[in-house]
Amino acid sequence: MRRRHELVSLSCCLSGLVLVLLLLALSARAQRQAQTDPSEVASLNAIFSRWGLRASTAWNINGEPCSGAAIDNTDIDNDHEFNPAIKCICSYNASTICHITRLKVYRLDVVGQIPAELQNLTYLTNLNLAQNYLTGSLPTFLEKLAQLQYLHLGTNALTGVLPRELGNLENLISLAISANKFVGPLPEVVENLTKLEQLWASDNDFTGKIPDYIGNLSI
Ligand SMILES: *[C@@H]1O[C@H](CO)[C@@H](O)[C@H](O)[C@H]1NC(C)=O
Ligand SMILES: *[C@@H]1O[C@H](CO)[C@@H](O)[C@H](O)[C@H]1NC(C)=O
Ligand SMILES: *[C@@H]1O[C@H](CO)[C@@H](O)[C@H](O)[C@H]1NC(C)=O
Repeated sequence: MRRRHELVSLSCCLSGLVLVLLLLALSARAQRQAQTDPSEVASLNAIFSRWGLRASTAWNINGEPCSGAAIDNTDIDNDHEFNPAIKCICSYNASTICHITRLKVYRLDVVGQIPAELQNLTYLTNLNLAQNYLTGSLPTFLEKLAQLQYLHLGTNALTGVLPRELGNLENLISLAISANKFVGPLPEVVENLTKLEQLWASDNDFTGKIPDYIGNLSI
């Protein structure tokens, strides 16, 4: 009789312990911040190291890129303090994963080519690399950034023909490539960009008749 009583109380304590452990695990999970997709972190690090840039502690808190200004209400497009800067969305994989959706490296005298690691930032909707000294041609892998809506590359030293693959960026709303050294035909590439509303293309060596600026392309 007494033995049974002990067993009952033991099983009661065990289930209590299990419950406490479960609650601890759940609250730890709830408190854990969503983290940047590891392949995007590695790619961003590689890009910044190629360009000689440092991530700001305003958004790269304790080595977690999607933190601080990257995930609060900071408007990095209009705030000169945040440059270079990123923005992220952290609702992926049940709010455990953040993806980088914006990258701004504006007017920072960056010298070099557009790095191959950029193709891994596939959640980018907004890429602003304007007013640097980027050289080389536009890589065909840009087509992998299929979410891109804003692609701003104006005032650099980019050369060559625009790759046909640019025509696959079907979500593009705004394309700024003026003041570079692009050659060849432009209209053939942009004709498939059915959502394009703004195009800045002056000060290049494009062939054919191209307006310097086109607003509201979709009539
Ligand atoms: C980026 O993408 C390339 C090509 O898909 C791949 O070879 C490379 O390992 C990727 N880098 C990272 C850091 O994931
Ligand atoms: C997020 O979920 C997707 C789809 O289930 C999966 O393919 C991907 O690997 C996950 N990402 C990470 C970083 O765990
Ligand atoms: C435009 O789209 C059509 C139909 O998908 C395709 O055949 C053509 O090659 C594309 N043009 C360019 C320049 O990408």
